[in-house]
Amino acid sequence: MIEARGSRPALVRAYNMFSVLYGLPGARLEREGVNRGLKRTGVRAGERVLEVAVGTGLVHARLRSRLGSTGLLVGVDLSPGMLRVTRRQVPEARLARADARQLPFPAETFDVLYAGYFLDLIPTRELVPLLGEFRRVLRRGGRLVVVNFSKNGEPLTWWERAYQVTPTFLVPWLFAGCRPVQAEPSVRAAGFAEV
Ligand SMILES: C[S@@+](CC[C@H](N)C(=O)[O-])C[C@H]1O[C@@H](n2cnc3c(N)ncnc32)[C@H](O)[C@@H]1O
Repeated sequence: MIEARGSRPALVRAYNMFSVLYGLPGARLEREGVNRGLKRTGVRAGERVLEVAVGTGLVHARLRSRLGSTGLLVGVDLSPGMLRVTRRQVPEARLARADARQLPFPAETFDVLYAGYFLDLIPTRELVPLLGEFRRVLRRGGRLVVVNFSKNGEPLTWWERAYQVTPTFLVPWLFAGCRPVQAEPSVRAAGFAEV
């Protein structure tokens, strides 16, 4: 697995800028993974759902319509620009600017946590603590769905090689900070069962 690059403030600056146009190319590229991920959430009326890294709110709107007027849906993101766009997509949304590494919720608050194309940004050493934080806010028996770029030991693509050699300050701008991750070992290490 190649290492994530780009500082947190640089990523936030880039995503603030991307918030203006991210929904369009991002949505097309991610459609299949998002559809599969949403199905896996199995969200039912009345459940309490947290979406981490809401981005432009496309998934948030779909989670909202699955819940209807029932349950609880909360979204967090670190980029004020992204939160503004999500607010336009889902005017009634409950949103908070928060770092996913320190979620501002008590333990065992949610039935479901969804995080799409977010682990791709996280340095390898931070994956297990981050997933541990996700686990903390899920109730016992809760469900985590992560959707991200992934690979299983295949040779590096030209894109990944370019990611590795691009000057760090440009990585958030040229690659949105994203590289493929192998999430499963970290998800297990964070204590999730039935992965
Ligand atoms: C690749 S986008 C994915 C957005 C959305 N989930 C989607 O699938 O379209 C990554 C998102 O993570 C947010 N983000 C980056 N670092 C974060 C952090 N530490 N905590 C919360 N959100 C963060 C960015 O602002 C951006 O909205």
